[in-house]
Order: sequence, then C-alpha cells, then structure tokens
Amino acid sequence: MERMLRGQMMRVRLMIFDTHAHYNDEAFDEDRDELLAGMESAGVTGIVNMGASWRDVEESQLLAKRYPFLYAAAGIHPDHVGELNEEKLARLCELCRRPETVAVGEIGLDYYWDKESHELQKEWFVRQLRMAKEADLPVNIHSREAAQDTFDLMKAEHAGTTGGIIHCFSSSAQMALEYVKLGYYIGVGGVVTFKNARVMKEVAAAVPLDRIVVETDCPYLAPAPHRGKRNSSLYLPLVIEAIARIRGIEACEVEAVTYANARKVYRLDE
Ligand code: NI
Repeated sequence: MERMLRGQMMRVRLMIFDTHAHYNDEAFDEDRDELLAGMESAGVTGIVNMGASWRDVEESQLLAKRYPFLYAAAGIHPDHVGELNEEKLARLCELCRRPETVAVGEIGLDYYWDKESHELQKEWFVRQLRMAKEADLPVNIHSREAAQDTFDLMKAEHAGTTGGIIHCFSSSAQMALEYVKLGYYIGVGGVVTFKNARVMKEVAAAVPLDRIVVETDCPYLAPAPHRGKRNSSLYLPLVIEAIARIRGIEACEVEAVTYANARKVYRLDE
C-alpha cells in the first residue's frame, strides 16, 4: 500500500530542471523572491542562472547563495566581451572554484547582434573555453548566426572534454547531432512550441532523448500560448509537452529523462 501511494506521489510530483535562466534580469524586479520561493512547490527543483554581462555574473552568485536549488554559471556572453580584461578573467577563474558555480556560461559567438568584432568574440570565447577546461566545469554555449565558427572553435579547443549544453539551438538537426557526437547536450526551450519553428522541431525529434535538456532563457522566449510575454521556469511543462508530442512519447518520460540529463551535465550527483 505504501509503495503504491509512493508510486502515485511520484507520478504527481513534477521534477523539472531549467538549465538556462536569467532571474537577475530587471523583468523580475517586482516579484523575483515571490516567484523563486514558489518554484520547488511547482516542481522546478533545479535552475542554473547564467552570466551574460559582468553584473549578471556577480548577481548570479548572489541568487545562488540565497536559493539552494539555484546554481550559478560564470561567463561572459559574446555581446559583452568588451567588458573583459585580465583582471576580470582572473576573477571569473576564482568564481569557477566556488561551490555555487556549476558551469561556465553563457559563452560563444553572436554574429547576429554583432556587438563586438568577430576577432574579439573568438578570442574571449577561446579563453573562456580554456578556463572551463582548467576548472573542469561544463560550458553553456550561445551561438547565433555563427554556427560554423562556433563548431570549429569548440572542436579545436574543447572536443567535448568538459561537455556542456548548446543553448537555444537554432542551426540544423544535422549540426545538433554533430555536437552530440562531441559529447554535448542540446538545450530546447520555448521556441519548440512556436508554429513556424521547423528547425527546432526537427532537432527535438532527431536528438536522442538522453542528450536533450530543457531551458527557458527567461525572461525571454516564453512558449506558446504565452509567446511575447515574460517567461519563467513555470512554463517549462509546455516545452516538455511539445517535445513529447513531437517524439510521440509521454510527457512524464521527457520530464524524467531531461531532469536526469540536466543533473548529469552539471554534475550535481557526483
Ligand atoms: Ni541566455
């Protein structure tokens, strides 16, 4: 009887891991604490808050200290690499050794916004990849309109040594499988629920389930029917249901496997 009850409870209890969020964003200034305090009872029992600008890196650490289920990533987004210098890189290396820090991210290349020169973006991407390798931390990769350069640099520099997540994957299913071969996980978020998101749906179908993690990138990229509104980890069941529909399997299976994948890639069970 007890076992049966426990089985039922397990089916009801959601276990969701948001592998990429920005809860320090000003979009959450009004209700951040209220929202985060309700996460665990809503089934969201793991969140990794990303670094993007320097301020985000520091604020992620503060959030991670405050909420035991929230972890920090330390890294500078390609749009903000102009903020980096030797001193800040040394500080990032220091943060990588803290118990709150589970990854280096988000780092990569962005040729869409093109806020910094490609040369500068590549230089700091490589240096942050090396930092991750030295700290033995997984990476969280941002790549926009820069698929080939990102892949080439990662293959040359990293070749899957520390592993990590390719966030908001947008190039092609074929490229996603190349990253899987290198040992990476593919982050699937709200875009998979958009009607016109052909590539993301192909990716969600083609990548083995044991290589998929879910993410929000909140406050951005809210899934349908909330598209355009503020996103949060509470909307992740919509992403999980979309992946399940595309693959023709149960949502609870997607939820359980992506949860385990997230803990594995961020090495939370070691
Ligand atoms: Ni992001």
